Amino acid sequence: MNNSPIGIYDSGFGGLSVWRELYRALPDESLIYLGDGAHCPYGELDEATICVYAQQAVEHLLAKGCKLIVVACNTATAAAVNFLRDKFSDIPIVGLEPAVKPACKLTKSKRVAVLATERSLKSDKFRTAVQRYAEGVEVVPVVGRGFVEAVEAGEEKSDKTLQLVASVVEPIIERGVDVIVLGCTHYPFLKGVIRQVIGDRDVVLIDSGEPVEKRVESLLERYDMRAGDDHVPEYKFMTFADDDYCERLRSKAFGE
Ligand code: DGL
Repeated sequence: MNNSPIGIYDSGFGGLSVWRELYRALPDESLIYLGDGAHCPYGELDEATICVYAQQAVEHLLAKGCKLIVVACNTATAAAVNFLRDKFSDIPIVGLEPAVKPACKLTKSKRVAVLATERSLKSDKFRTAVQRYAEGVEVVPVVGRGFVEAVEAGEEKSDKTLQLVASVVEPIIERGVDVIVLGCTHYPFLKGVIRQVIGDRDVVLIDSGEPVEKRVESLLERYDMRAGDDHVPEYKFMTFADDDYCERLRSKAFGE
């Protein structure tokens, strides 16, 4: 048993989509969320720069006594998770996998799209996942340009965002794709507008929130690190941006 918090890190608001899964499924666990905010978006930064920011973030979370770290950012996982695991080898670090495998199992049209940042789509992790799991399936990589910025600005439902999302998602559907992987943790916050664009067409959206939660749960079991049943959980939020950003993280975490 271990009542220390789980640390969750993202470039900004996106990892809150993972935070919500952990909050829902692990109600005894304390959670500390660190949304960088000062350097977001990460999507077009080089790997070395992301490693520097990720190291800084993990050090902050470990200083708060976290027992396990979730890198709730596909981009930071792709760029830095191996570096982090080498550097902080005595703590379990969970990263995000591009959900190519489940998408390829689900597709009937044999065409899936992975919507993610440029950095994620250029990564070895993505290339390896396609080589390993996509036999007989065409995987279309698509950059969600401007999507992270829309979520950071709290513009998830605006007309401008709907138009932006339509300009990216409509061509994917016209190509015959029937499964779209949301390969960036910011994108689940755009599910509403993405579904509006899809309309009544038969297209499935997949994100990584639930599989990550399951992975965290299995590691807590394996290392006997679950919080006790009588533990009263605490929820804390941190950022490298300002107090206002931190307040917005908190309200988005508990928001709709
Ligand atoms: N949430 C990050 C991800 O999952 C967004 C990356 C960014 O900051 O551009 O990839």
